[in-house]
Amino acid sequence: MIPQSFIQDLLGRVDIVDVIERHLTLKKGGANYFACCPFHGEKTPSFSISPSKQFYHCFGCGVHGNAIGFLMEYSGLSFVEAVTELARQVGVEVPQEANPSGRFAPPPAEQDALIDAMATAARFYREQLRHSPVAIDYLTRRGLTGEIAARFGIGYAPDDWQGLHKVFPAYDARPLLEAGLVIENEAGRRYDRFRDRIMFPIQDRRGRIIAFGGRVLDKGEPKYLNSPETPLFEKGRELYGLIQAQKPIRDAGYVLVVEGYMDVVSLAQFGVCNAVATLGTATTPHHIKALLRHTDRIVFCFDGDAAGRKAAWRALESSLEALRDDITLAFLFLPEQHDPDSFVRSEGADALERAAREAKPLAGFLIDALSAELDLGSAEGRSRLVHDARPLVTQVAAPLLRLQLVKQIGELSGLSQREVEEAFGTHTSTRRHDKRWDGDGDHAAHPARHTPQPSRSARSRRAPIPAAGTLLRLVLQHPAWIARLPIALIPLDSDEGRSLAALVDAMEVGDIDPDCGLGALVERYRDTPHADTIARAAADLVGTDYDETVIETLFEDTVKKLHADMINREILSLAQQEREHGLSSADRHRLAELLLEKRNLTDKPQD
Ligand code: UTP
Ligand code: MN
Repeated sequence: MIPQSFIQDLLGRVDIVDVIERHLTLKKGGANYFACCPFHGEKTPSFSISPSKQFYHCFGCGVHGNAIGFLMEYSGLSFVEAVTELARQVGVEVPQEANPSGRFAPPPAEQDALIDAMATAARFYREQLRHSPVAIDYLTRRGLTGEIAARFGIGYAPDDWQGLHKVFPAYDARPLLEAGLVIENEAGRRYDRFRDRIMFPIQDRRGRIIAFGGRVLDKGEPKYLNSPETPLFEKGRELYGLIQAQKPIRDAGYVLVVEGYMDVVSLAQFGVCNAVATLGTATTPHHIKALLRHTDRIVFCFDGDAAGRKAAWRALESSLEALRDDITLAFLFLPEQHDPDSFVRSEGADALERAAREAKPLAGFLIDALSAELDLGSAEGRSRLVHDARPLVTQVAAPLLRLQLVKQIGELSGLSQREVEEAFGTHTSTRRHDKRWDGDGDHAAHPARHTPQPSRSARSRRAPIPAAGTLLRLVLQHPAWIARLPIALIPLDSDEGRSLAALVDAMEVGDIDPDCGLGALVERYRDTPHADTIARAAADLVGTDYDETVIETLFEDTVKKLHADMINREILSLAQQEREHGLSSADRHRLAELLLEKRNLTDKPQD
């Protein structure tokens, strides 16, 4: 757990403009900066960053957030990773409170030692490659240029039992063993894990090297030797090449998931740079989730053989829970003798990209694979189809796609939609389909990206923002004014009213620093019921904030209006009571008071 006080302080130190400028080209326009939105395709910039508010908002697609939110969305970092990255940028250390989730995480100093060791080893392997004609010759024969090798940091581990000794004078230090760079035999003697192999460094989402894959030159067993699982490296979570592919994935609008290191590198050599590889494991839900942060179209590319089909099926199974109606998962099967590397070499990049566009969507693959071995001409075959489909289709989280599947299975099996639903045990189900898939409960999912909010202008055309909404925006522009809000006046019948009340409460107990800035204020409400309402109101203020010369009057008028609304509500209710049952003398007294208050409110000259 990172203390909230640290996060608040951190957001006070970073400048969101610097953070975003590392990734996008910004243009100044008035008080704000503008860029083409990285989250949806556009030619004219509607992505706006406010330095004074420390907040961004895209008027095109509605995404918005502070510096932490940007790194999470853009670089696909988790919340903790984003905070850590910001802290690194301003040169402060992230303090740790006890971690309640209990998930193993080595203390930062220990982790840093491992990261340092990996970086040193990678540098050594790269250097060795330059001095090994055999290794260079191997890569050249496989068609790689020095430029691509450099882009992926490819190196060579020399044929030497203790090669790493040269760059690790303390060859017996703990980090070498912990990072999986050396192996210790029973006699306690250490030797290099990787010898005489082409080395592929595996980087995490922040670009740090966390593992290696090492390929033998030509023949030998095992063909690939990988780092063991270490405190830095959990195979089922990482994707090879993701850091290099991030931007190309956005540009291409899809990601290609392949099986091998060489496939990724070789595709990049041919200009297909939006490919990543799983690391000798089946595709896991973690992989899918990580990729969906970058794109809404995933194309799995598998060899055309039986092993490829099996791998595709496992990828399908891992994906069902992550499906949404606004994403596409598709399967590209290469001709039997090919893997992506050989295919792109013999057929070219265009052919591969065409095949990726025409890849078979998940639902089609699911139905085809299920019915392939069955005789749908027989009652047994048709029943078997429904039977086999059940555990899969009931996992599909996308309601519309699920409905399509049910209908299609109905057609193939000669049952009505209702009969299929009955067979699945889901016909009366009130199962919630909108549950957002969030495998390990971290702070990854961001609703804004996939459910664009209408822009302020679009909304105000439809309906005027009610008083609570106006007040919420006003106090976000001037957080110090939260202290001026009379809590009794705030109506709790809307999200905005409830969020406003939460702000007043927090201010009263001293939880809000009136000078903290909007980005930090919004951060405080992450993962609370108020998060969306407050962030959306903050986004509205980017570029369309209230004119400072009228804001004071607007604030007072709006408070007055709330007051008048409250008085009116009470007057109406007392009047109704009088008609129905008559009023007690206390009620009558109260009514007189209210009528007087109302007159005072409306008669007062505006100042
Ligand atoms: P492949 O055998 O398809 O290798 O394994 P490749 O990527 O096409 O490599 P080249 O073209 O022969 O050089 C696919 C992936 O499976 C994992 C690696 O991640 C590899 O990239 N693998 C394979 C291993 O981990 N160990 C092995 O012994 C073999
Ligand atoms: Mn290959």
